[in-house]
Amino acid sequence: MRVLGIETSCDETGIAIYDSRAGLLAHHLFSQKAHIEYGGVVPELASRDHVRKVLPMIDAVLKEANLAPRDIQGIAYTAGPGLVGALMVGAVVAQSLRFAWQCPAIGVHHMEGHLLAPMLEANPPPFPFVALLVSGGHSQLIKVTRLGEYEILGESIDDAAGEAFDKTAKLLGLPYPGGPHLAKIAIHGNPERFNFPRPLLNRGLDFSFSGLKTAVANAIAKSPQDEQTVADIAASFEQAVIDTLIVKSLRALQETGMKQLIIAGGVGANIKLRTSLSDLGEKQGFKVYYPRPLFCTDNGAMIAYAGCKRLLAGEKEDLKIQVRARWPISELRTV
Ligand code: KG4
Ligand code: ZN
Repeated sequence: MRVLGIETSCDETGIAIYDSRAGLLAHHLFSQKAHIEYGGVVPELASRDHVRKVLPMIDAVLKEANLAPRDIQGIAYTAGPGLVGALMVGAVVAQSLRFAWQCPAIGVHHMEGHLLAPMLEANPPPFPFVALLVSGGHSQLIKVTRLGEYEILGESIDDAAGEAFDKTAKLLGLPYPGGPHLAKIAIHGNPERFNFPRPLLNRGLDFSFSGLKTAVANAIAKSPQDEQTVADIAASFEQAVIDTLIVKSLRALQETGMKQLIIAGGVGANIKLRTSLSDLGEKQGFKVYYPRPLFCTDNGAMIAYAGCKRLLAGEKEDLKIQVRARWPISELRTV
């Protein structure tokens, strides 16, 4: 089955075609620039940019894969969680094409897309595994027994990990989106210069990141603003987040008895997080999987893949346009 994937939940337009036999055939990504001058995503601008980009990008992926609309057997679009206006663009286009092309369509859960993104890589993880899902809107540890069976073991009680990266980057005067910029300057910093808090470290599987930005704000207020200090603050902040994510991931593996961990979502693109967990895995006997950095952040390939799996399992959706700003992943049906 060949599925067209459409991702428009936030500020990236992602379009891809996934073939259940041949794998990923084509994928295009457009990261919106309109938000940079505002230092964060402006929902109305996001919707408008998606409107401009979705159809030309669908034409482009079809062309790249050397396919015509009649070669597509299903359409997957992100139905939530995300910005309602942005999601609506993808949903309306998907349902219109489905009507025109006479094929089924399916609304995909954005975080299920992230969670399944490692399956697009050469050595996909077999079920079951623990997933560390860390994005701009969510930080969760999930026990995954099979497709659609997701038990939330722990989650952030306040800011998501990516949100903490973005807010801290803003405090440091870095451009939006802050996570990758902060990680870049952290390379030259000393992660031990500032001892930032690691809340809830000693108990449970929930995270808390909101206190970190206050600690960073205090450090900035008390320190000189030279380049090295900014790099040291960035590195110390990054280390505090990574330490927390590592301790909680190890605890989740221990509590579930599982030996496989997947890292997914935008923060999963963080090289230090990936290498630290992989090194620990080698030492402690668990295996770590993650998608290529491009498929950690929002993209159409993960939506095409997740939609393809659900369509192949016989899931169907009425001809309706319905999106959800909030949508707990634990509500998904097991396939
Ligand atoms: O998954 P994603 O693209 O969008 C959501 O579903 O939220 O995640 C975006 C988040 C942003 O907060 C961004 O700053 C963060 O992922 N991010 C990173 C890195 N690359 C992206 N955070 C830390 N290090 C990175 N290299
Ligand atoms: Zn995302």
